[in-house]
Amino acid sequence: MEKYGHVFATIYNNNFSQFADDTFTQIYSLIEQQEISLQNKNILDLCCGTGRLSLHFLRKGFNVTGIDISEHMLTYAMKNAEKYIEAGQAQFILGDATNFALDQHYSLIVSTYDALNHLENDEALQSCFKCVYDVLEEKGTFVFDLNTRLALTTSDGLSVHEDQNSLFITKRQYHPSFQKACTVFSGFVKQKNNDTYVRFQQIVYNTIFELDKVKNYLLDIGWSKVDFTLSHDLNQVLKDPESVHRVFVIAKK
Ligand SMILES: C[S@@+](CC[C@H](N)C(=O)[O-])C[C@H]1O[C@@H](n2cnc3c(N)ncnc32)[C@H](O)[C@@H]1O
Repeated sequence: MEKYGHVFATIYNNNFSQFADDTFTQIYSLIEQQEISLQNKNILDLCCGTGRLSLHFLRKGFNVTGIDISEHMLTYAMKNAEKYIEAGQAQFILGDATNFALDQHYSLIVSTYDALNHLENDEALQSCFKCVYDVLEEKGTFVFDLNTRLALTTSDGLSVHEDQNSLFITKRQYHPSFQKACTVFSGFVKQKNNDTYVRFQQIVYNTIFELDKVKNYLLDIGWSKVDFTLSHDLNQVLKDPESVHRVFVIAKK
């Protein structure tokens, strides 16, 4: 998949923060209820993007490592968390979620907003899980979301976004031949220092992962408990996760 480019990183930083804000509220409430146990204050934000979710954890005093494959997304993450980086509380690393190793261990590892749907196939997902497992503290928790088959096969359509700085179309289409949904963002963004607009296009693929298999991959690697939960209520465990559009997976080591 093409990496998130520099214009799209600006679009993302300006427009796509609500999901991370809502997700933080959900995850933090699990921490407060001690449903997520913390052996240390280290959090890994895998596929951290512009670092919006990281920032919430940093403000609460956690130490955060962010990893992302797009240098343009990381540039924003580093800018947004500048004071925490200077204080030694945050680090952001250019890396691939399917092939990384770190010398720290983390009590909580998160990967949010379709990030793992971006992985190429089941092998890539399994490699990612193995890397995560190796840096997860004993009794640590891995929380990530996935768009389900239902979502990715039924969300075809067009939407238009317009604000003072940008105008773009989002086109979603499911491709049955290779079991992926493709989202094309296409439009114009106003340049910072003058009144000209720059044209951009970003193509993002989302792979369908069968949730039964996802659970088995995690259990086979060594996680002791894996639950699928509702995205707006992480306490609500789903009996039939394929029946909703998005699930959060809560995997405990
Ligand atoms: C939709 S964004 C989500 C960003 C962030 N987690 C959030 O909640 O806003 C998906 C991110 O995954 C990153 N990504 C995709 N594939 C990756 C990979 N193999 N390794 C690391 N990052 C990856 C992209 O660069 C992008 O920043």
